[in-house]
Amino acid sequence: MVKILAIESSCDETAAAVVADGYQLLANVIATQIPVHQLYGGVVPEIASREHLNSVVPVVERALQEAGLGLADLDAVAVTQGPGLIGSLLVGVSYAKALALAAGLPLIAVHHLAGHMSAPFLEHPDLTFPYLALVVSGSHSGLAIAEQAGHYRLLGQSRDDAAGEAFDKIARALGLPYPGGPAIQQAAAQGQPIYEFPCAWLDDSYDFSFSGLKSAVLNFLNKKQMKGEPYRVEDVAASAQEAIVKVLAAKAARAAEHFGLDTIVLAGGVAANQALRSRVQQMVPDKRVVYPSPVFCTDNAAMIGAAALNKYAQGDFAGLDLNAQANLPLYFYN
Ligand code: KG4
Ligand code: ZN
Repeated sequence: MVKILAIESSCDETAAAVVADGYQLLANVIATQIPVHQLYGGVVPEIASREHLNSVVPVVERALQEAGLGLADLDAVAVTQGPGLIGSLLVGVSYAKALALAAGLPLIAVHHLAGHMSAPFLEHPDLTFPYLALVVSGSHSGLAIAEQAGHYRLLGQSRDDAAGEAFDKIARALGLPYPGGPAIQQAAAQGQPIYEFPCAWLDDSYDFSFSGLKSAVLNFLNKKQMKGEPYRVEDVAASAQEAIVKVLAAKAARAAEHFGLDTIVLAGGVAANQALRSRVQQMVPDKRVVYPSPVFCTDNAAMIGAAALNKYAQGDFAGLDLNAQANLPLYFYN
């Protein structure tokens, strides 16, 4: 049985997991930095890399302990190469290289978004290619066709703010805590989408744009505050969530129809959003909509291990000259 130790440190979670053949999860450890960054209303890159330095060794040790394995029992070490914050990525990549060298194990470099798109296999190993993937996180919004393991055809991506970034920035303006997505979802549950904020449909493409929505919400709040008019945070949260979810769900449904794909996978932190999940399923009742549990939607190392299994099978290993890449492009064909 192949056993891979996977390490993820691209943003504000230090994570390690052990994944075995058949997407079996033997250990999954996540040290989140959210409480540290909450003080600043968002991720502070310098602090993130220092936190990774403190956490990476104990997190990996805990994962091995949970799996009941030593380094000698492993077949490979996998790590997120990019994209992400360079200082954060470097901690994971350097440590993975050192471990691989010391233990004489092959090293596997994983694209962070390929990790997100592989996360559903951990709970749905029966998932088959091809499928449409809507990848929505704090730093990316994209639509891709997963044609086969490791082969992604990018259909469109965010032209400005990512969907998660929009949630985070709007939450901040509303005085809600970081990360904004879960906070907005919670507030929205007590509100009504009574305000119509603008949606950028970009009809001729599968790209997304959320910076106009963010500005519209900020302007709305400024005007209300200047005029001393009351508003309910819950209603603004529900209206902003509606504007984001509406576009994401409609574009995913359109792409799945257009390319004749029967399965839609929702991936990335924003895929934890309940309104998004139900809206996509509502729009394509005849299609299979697959999404990971929330813990596998937000950053984790189990998804990196899931993506690495295929690379291991192909003998696709990295050299010890592997470098972290903040803007690593997703491998795709056109
Ligand atoms: O995938 P992820 O953990 O990190 C990146 O790769 O960026 O995604 C984090 C993002 C944050 O912007 C957060 O606000 C958003 O995912 N998020 C959500 C929810 N949970 C996390 N957005 C909407 N609804 C949620 N329930
Ligand atoms: Zn992510």
